[in-house]
Amino acid sequence: MTIRLGDVVPDFEAQTTEGPIRFHEWLGNSWGVLFSHPKNFTPVCTTELGQVARLKPEFDRRNVKVIGLSVDPLDAHAKWAEDIAETQGYAPNFPLIADQDRTISGLYDMIHPNASDTMTVRSVFIVGPDKKLKLSLTYPASAGRNFDEILRVIDSLQLSATHSVATPANWKDGDDVIIVPSVSDEAAKEKFPEGWKTLKPYLRVVAQPGK
Ligand code: BEZ
Repeated sequence: MTIRLGDVVPDFEAQTTEGPIRFHEWLGNSWGVLFSHPKNFTPVCTTELGQVARLKPEFDRRNVKVIGLSVDPLDAHAKWAEDIAETQGYAPNFPLIADQDRTISGLYDMIHPNASDTMTVRSVFIVGPDKKLKLSLTYPASAGRNFDEILRVIDSLQLSATHSVATPANWKDGDDVIIVPSVSDEAAKEKFPEGWKTLKPYLRVVAQPGK
């Protein structure tokens, strides 16, 4: 199943390392990051789960719940957590789904048969409090993800959700932002009374709201 930006993401029940959940209910009013890794006891995945555990306070600060998934069973998740703690210095401090029957992997199109018949790819789904898909990424097994980039884009998504702005290339929290084209100059005067810089009529740069 293809899930597109703006779609309500599929709900599901799952067994996780923190007990059974129903996804939408578990998300509550938070943002969410659902990410899959190909296989337990593999090197790149071990580093990724350590990184997510290290960054957990940053996700919490943004009101984002994080949940991982693989097709490995719960007892393997528990055993592997010891290796992650030992080698990465951080044990998983967020739930990991055991999707042994691949129901959720199928719902979210996480198995790409021309890459692997048996393992999930490295998918990331960022979900808003309205349960709609805000962003998705797919990485191959060979490339570990940059979770600082996931946090950066969450900052952008959350800013755009509350202000009529978009963020330019390589933007990071605190940098100037762009007034979206749908806002007229007239309306912009009310929203951005401190003013903005017009580089082109369609390219208006303003200080990040709230900073
Ligand atoms: C890894 O996490 O290192 C990995 C997982 C599956 C295939 C190749 C590498």
